[in-house]
Amino acid sequence: KKILLAYSGGLDTSVAIKWLEDKYEAEIITYTAHLGQPQAWDAVEAKALATGATKAYIDDIREEFITDYIYPALKVNAMYQEKYPLATALARPLIAKRMVEIAKKEGVDALAHGCTGKGNDQVRFEVSFKALAPEMEIIAPLRDWEFVSREGEIEYAEANGIPVKATKKSPYSIDQNLWGISIECGILEDPWAEPPADAYQWTKEVDQTPAEPKYITIDFEKGIPVAIDGQKMKPIQLVEKLNELGSEYGVGRIDMLEDRLVGIKSREIYEAPAGEILIKAHKALEDLTLDRDTKNYKAEMAAKYANLTYNGLWFSPLRDALDAFVNQSQKTVSGQVKVKLYKGKCTLAGRKSNYSLYEHGLATYDESDNFDHKSAPGFINLWALPLQVANKKKREE
Ligand code: ARG
Ligand code: SIN
Repeated sequence: KKILLAYSGGLDTSVAIKWLEDKYEAEIITYTAHLGQPQAWDAVEAKALATGATKAYIDDIREEFITDYIYPALKVNAMYQEKYPLATALARPLIAKRMVEIAKKEGVDALAHGCTGKGNDQVRFEVSFKALAPEMEIIAPLRDWEFVSREGEIEYAEANGIPVKATKKSPYSIDQNLWGISIECGILEDPWAEPPADAYQWTKEVDQTPAEPKYITIDFEKGIPVAIDGQKMKPIQLVEKLNELGSEYGVGRIDMLEDRLVGIKSREIYEAPAGEILIKAHKALEDLTLDRDTKNYKAEMAAKYANLTYNGLWFSPLRDALDAFVNQSQKTVSGQVKVKLYKGKCTLAGRKSNYSLYEHGLATYDESDNFDHKSAPGFINLWALPLQVANKKKREE
């Protein structure tokens, strides 16, 4: 048997290599996605091989992640429960898709991942596997194995010659990519406890941020950011730059009590500097360039889109259909947005576009006003008519 295992380089998935090898008498190939997390990639590869993998893939999928997953979600302004820009949730279907491609190339029988049985990630991986390669067996060692504690895993690792880092492990479980960091466990499991300073990985504490505000201008073309301060940038560079800037000014912290698909409430901390800045800026440009009905309709579907992403349904016909609607809506979402980063906040400072639907003559209260005030009474008469009738009936009752 040949198994392709999603491998992070951490203790769980390292133990999983050995455990799967023994339990299934299998050959193990590992797959590690490079999504912008800081890792010594050579060391990850070496560790996988030293632990028993016959081959270790390190796959740089940053660009595809941004253009085909992050940007579609940005065009929607997708935030789960209006807070979480979905960094982890967006990465899972792409990892699954790449694993299926490699599994087919390598003639693999089973796909394995290191998610637990109580999270969202198992669902996202497995639903995506089933959608793209229903013939593949799926194995989730962390759901099946006998270890109940980290100590048990460490004992097993030591007995099997798996290198265990001597350094004290962070008390948090962290998942990181270009669209954000998800932080959970430890003291964060107490919803009353304020996140300690060491829980945040990227963003500065407000009292350590610069004394002066920073203004930046972002250029959008058809809903996608293409330049910062007039300087054109490739997707990876642009998102990294905004993560850096946002972190420096303490922007993008999220403390959330969210609802997992499996029915439990869970306390999560996120950092998403680029996400917060870009979604805010993108929304501001839509305010200027989308007609009222399209904008309002789009805001309603945004929650739907965020939910389906969160819930593992990325490869669904509904997502394809919503993307088609969204892409049509973005044809005029081009222009510039100015934001101010200051003391943990990103605030809007200005917006402009060649597709602006804002007409000064209609909006102004000065002498250049060309709005037809005389049409208003007639409009109001008809607007009020059904209420007039209904309220008259009520009074007569
Ligand atoms: N609750 C978040 C989500 O469902 C974060 C999950 C973090 N995943 C992890 N493997 N640490 O998207
Ligand atoms: C896990 O339980 O494997 C991580 C958290 C999640 O999937 O929501």
